[in-house]
Amino acid sequence: MRKAYATLLCGGDGYVPGAEALGKSLEETGTTAPRVALVTEDVTPAGRALLARQGWTLRDVSPLENPNPLRAQLLPRFHDVFTKLRVWELVEFERVVFLDADTVVLQNVDDLFERPELAAAPDFFLPDRFNSGVMVLEPSAEQLAKMVTELATAESYDGGDQGFLNTYFADWYAKPVAHRLPIGYNMAHFIYQFLHGHPSTRERLEREVKILHFLVQKPWRARSMLTGASAIWWSKFFDAHPEQARPWRTRLHALEDWTFDHLAESVVG
Ligand code: GLC
Ligand code: MN
Repeated sequence: MRKAYATLLCGGDGYVPGAEALGKSLEETGTTAPRVALVTEDVTPAGRALLARQGWTLRDVSPLENPNPLRAQLLPRFHDVFTKLRVWELVEFERVVFLDADTVVLQNVDDLFERPELAAAPDFFLPDRFNSGVMVLEPSAEQLAKMVTELATAESYDGGDQGFLNTYFADWYAKPVAHRLPIGYNMAHFIYQFLHGHPSTRERLEREVKILHFLVQKPWRARSMLTGASAIWWSKFFDAHPEQARPWRTRLHALEDWTFDHLAESVVG
């Protein structure tokens, strides 16, 4: 089967560090599937060079406009997320595992290529909808054309691609179990950190979590000490950029996770 991993960079270079850490983390799983990064023209030559260094093959795509007005978008950064649908354009592959640029892979996930379209894990906020940060799909120009037609009128509960895709694949929750990925394939970073704080859940968590998703705070943009799973993300980033690794930085990110654990402890008691 022709298969690939894919990610998306759009609206400039803001997510390049994320895609670098993701690319390196995929390489470290020993997968032989190619890695394709969809890029819009506003991703700079310098950003593109960094992506290529982490094994991403670049694929230029044109932006898909968000049909929802700004006030209907849950977060300002959802403005250009509909470009993600361009992943259905990768028709040279029979199956694609799409990964948001704010994810890192901790274990080999090639088994995902055995899953049918559309396979995804539940969303943390609304578990009867799927999270569109990790998806198994079958590229198809007809499917994309159909999506683009439906975009204008279909409801998107978050004003982003995820809301739209949950309308488009409306029966996801009721489908055979092969379509529903275990949560370890798309684990929210703050839940991971919370469960990791306790020895009773830690071992199982480390065994079961294969993909971490930095859903809320992006480690490379964090302005506080409260990211959650910060040390893991930074270790992947430093694998991609050994020249930036410093013992004090590693200690700082461990301290971030420690701060998270202690705050959680004081809240939960
Ligand atoms: C959520 C998903 C992300 C998606 C966004 C917009 O943040 O994790 O993948 O792009 O919603 O729908
Ligand atoms: Mn994401």
